[in-house]
Amino acid sequence: MVLWPQRQDPGYAWGLTKFDIRPVIPGKPKCLTSLPTRLKATHMENSNSKLIMLVDDSGANLLTGKAALSGSYKVLTAGSAATMLEMLEWNKPDLILLDVDMPEMNGFQAIKILKERGDAKEIPVIFLTAMNDSNHELEGLELGAVDYIAKPFSPPLLRKRVELHLLLKDNEKELQSYNDNLQSMVEEKTKTILKLQNKLLASMAEMVEGRDGVTGDHIVNTMRYMRILLSAYQEAGICGGAEEVSEWDIDLLCRSCQLHDVGKIAISDAILKKPGKLTDEEFATMQQHTVFGVDFIEKLEDGEESSAFLRYAKTFAGYHHEKWNGAGYPHGLSGEAIPLLGRLMAIADVYDALTSDRPYKKAFSHEEAVRIIVEGRGTHFDPALVDIFEKKSEMFRQTEK
Ligand SMILES: [Fe+2]
Repeated sequence: MVLWPQRQDPGYAWGLTKFDIRPVIPGKPKCLTSLPTRLKATHMENSNSKLIMLVDDSGANLLTGKAALSGSYKVLTAGSAATMLEMLEWNKPDLILLDVDMPEMNGFQAIKILKERGDAKEIPVIFLTAMNDSNHELEGLELGAVDYIAKPFSPPLLRKRVELHLLLKDNEKELQSYNDNLQSMVEEKTKTILKLQNKLLASMAEMVEGRDGVTGDHIVNTMRYMRILLSAYQEAGICGGAEEVSEWDIDLLCRSCQLHDVGKIAISDAILKKPGKLTDEEFATMQQHTVFGVDFIEKLEDGEESSAFLRYAKTFAGYHHEKWNGAGYPHGLSGEAIPLLGRLMAIADVYDALTSDRPYKKAFSHEEAVRIIVEGRGTHFDPALVDIFEKKSEMFRQTEK
């Protein structure tokens, strides 16, 4: 009675017992349902050990290899590369020992397929071969093998090499998992810092608004208008001189523009809450909120290091009252000498001031506010930015206050 498939029988999985022998049928094998059960039974003998897949067209080599490894590992054998690829449908070995010189599909061809398979490309492959010249060895390693063992091999040496590569793989997995954990921890911390930053900003904004006596969520509104303007400007792809407009982080810019009036903290109540018109002297003091804002933000900066958030915030605070014709404050800059973010903030700030009630005036309608801003084209505001504002003005109207 023939218990073992003959070496010349193509497509047989070789093993030590007749129960391991099964015909390999192209496509889905008919024994699909019974195979996992059979393998499970085999695995139960060594349930804690790793699974090694041994691939060789020589039955004798499969027997020797399995004998060398089965004391320490679960071993699956395949008599050809095609059988190995098929067996990988149901098994995920921890390591593959792959013969190079095999008929039909050799080891080099097989590893190329393995490395392209999502379910198998991470499995370490060691070539076992009699072709042990250095060119072949180099070719095998370049194709993605982790090692190259010459046949005939010494069983203890084979065990040791397998053990080392399994250890390496375990360490690699552990390191990957450590890195993943570290990454998620950093992301979590960043989220917490951003949350805290937003809470601090909201409190600061409330404090400024509370002291100003201005109702209507000026900070929140201007932030929404800035989002519209910044996105429109970025979409238009207008060159912003030194500003890297295409790299703008709109969320970050919107968060930092909330600090544009932070300097009002340093302005006295008598001026901030005055219901009537300010005297010239009072107005000059009021203008200082831009300078106080910059000073305040500079104190938050850590020495020479400055985060993008604080750099942006300083620009918004320092330049949102400059005018295109040079009649603004605190520096009286004109044209493109005014930083782009300051010119954008000016439009958002004035639109909200116009369309909000103040102790000394009623809110203007959206249409009136647009007309006033368009009239300020080239005097108060950057003409190119007024064009953008006009195009997007409907979005300003739709922004709920
Ligand atoms: Fe202001």
